[in-house]
Amino acid sequence: MLREKVLTQIKDVVQNQKSDRSGAFQQIVELLHKNFPAYDWVGIYLVEGEELVLAAWKGPAATEHTRIPIGQGVCGAAAASGLTEVVNDVSKDNRYLSCFPSTKSEIVVPISKEGMVIGEIDIDSNKFGAFNNVDQEFLEDVALILSEF
Ligand code: SME
Repeated sequence: MLREKVLTQIKDVVQNQKSDRSGAFQQIVELLHKNFPAYDWVGIYLVEGEELVLAAWKGPAATEHTRIPIGQGVCGAAAASGLTEVVNDVSKDNRYLSCFPSTKSEIVVPISKEGMVIGEIDIDSNKFGAFNNVDQEFLEDVALILSEF
């Protein structure tokens, strides 16, 4: 129910803000952060050349990783493969680029258009294993909506 409601809100943001993509991205990260307590930091990165560039974020603190080369970190791995990455314990993943000492788990969902990765949703949680199949499917639906931009 909650997820369906938020998907509808995100669709509305995309429809109503076609001319203000960065404003729309900001509203969307805020909707995800506000509605899901385990989503402690929510960001959207966009592909620019060989890098991911942070376009919008909501959380308690800024990240130093505002540009991530494709292929580096969990974010760069998802951008390279086009597949969602779920890391239940970031301390056990040697690809992980640390942003916040509080982060325990992470999900990265690519945003793809016509077979190309154009960006991704990156969410950090302060809980271990915060992201299950339901989160993954929901966030892949969000990514599909974002690919329409
Ligand atoms: N942890 C990510 C870097 C981005 S921060 O989580 C905001 C990674 O390993 O790619």
